[in-house]
Amino acid sequence: MLTNSSEQTEDINLDTTLRPQSFSEYVGQEKVKKNLDILIQAAKKRNEPIEHILLYGPAGLGKTTLANIVAKEMGVNIKTTSGPAIERVGDFGSILTNLQDGDILFIDEIHRLNKSIEEILYPAMEDFKLDIIIGKGPSARTIQLDLPRFTLIGATTKLGSISNPLRNRFGATYRLEFYENNDIKNILKRSSRILDITVEDSGLEKIASCSRQTPRVANRLLKRVRDYSQIKNHTSVDSIIAREALEMIDVDPIGLEPADKHILKTIIEKFDGGPVGLSTIAAATSEEIKTIEDVYEPYLLQIGFLARTPRGRVVTENGYKHLDIPYNKQEGLF
Ligand SMILES: Nc1ncnc2c1ncn2[C@@H]1O[C@H](COP(=O)(O)OP(=O)(O)OP(=O)(O)O)[C@@H](O)[C@H]1O
Ligand SMILES: [Mg+2]
Repeated sequence: MLTNSSEQTEDINLDTTLRPQSFSEYVGQEKVKKNLDILIQAAKKRNEPIEHILLYGPAGLGKTTLANIVAKEMGVNIKTTSGPAIERVGDFGSILTNLQDGDILFIDEIHRLNKSIEEILYPAMEDFKLDIIIGKGPSARTIQLDLPRFTLIGATTKLGSISNPLRNRFGATYRLEFYENNDIKNILKRSSRILDITVEDSGLEKIASCSRQTPRVANRLLKRVRDYSQIKNHTSVDSIIAREALEMIDVDPIGLEPADKHILKTIIEKFDGGPVGLSTIAAATSEEIKTIEDVYEPYLLQIGFLARTPRGRVVTENGYKHLDIPYNKQEGLF
């Protein structure tokens, strides 16, 4: 499993100690950083809040971290919530009215906002107005409140699930990419300094190649490697120790875990390699659809072991190869 409950609290603490606090500590994503910096400098110059920003990309690539850095660079408060956490219109109204001029409201998983909340958000984003309905039935009336000039930063793993009216109200939209190997190595270097462990270059290389091009995974693996090397009384981590540690936790040389392989194997063995729909895969593997979609699938698609077709998911020739299963289809004839 990529996450399990006993690991979760530990990893949340780890997340906060290792989380970069400024653009200079935030490794990679150069284009996004540069654009955000321009946005921030321009807003400061005009003495205005920054435009609403939408960040999207797979889990663990640094969206929450970026939102916090933007707040820090602007010198404003950030209030954090998430789409599924905002249940009632009234609750959301009080979040908005409690903001101050310039504050950032960060909404994680913004694609999961319910429709009635979304409708309040439109005038709030556009005109900094809040429409509230007082009373019920024929005597109900609407009053309009002025809101502080806040900035909304939305984050999502699924841009396609955001309605057009909402999407269009963001002044800037940035996509976070999977990280280059070298960036992951630099993240690991920084984290090992903070965690006070010595990792040789070969060790960094080994952990990086198993990190699914994702900073959160890199940090989690680094921590497991640290535990292992401490128990074995090693003073420094090289590629052999790193490999042993990662084998212990069932991470293969390219970062696949048993659940990834189970998904690929199920598609191959039960559905002849696909195409097969996501919900069918979920039922056959006893995983949740959302977990497959958000946790496992993005990386399998990224490395080209899985392909998306209009008729469902397909395991590619490379996917078969990695599992040592003979491939007898003609590529392209899904
Ligand atoms: N560019 C980066 N440089 C260094 N560390 C990073 C970077 N991006 C992310 N991290 C590390 O990875 C962890 C996960 O990042 P973060 O929580 O911001 O991801 P996320 O995109 O919000 O994920 P999710 O979609 O799951 O909410 C952070 O705690 C931080 O330690
Ligand atoms: Mg996040």
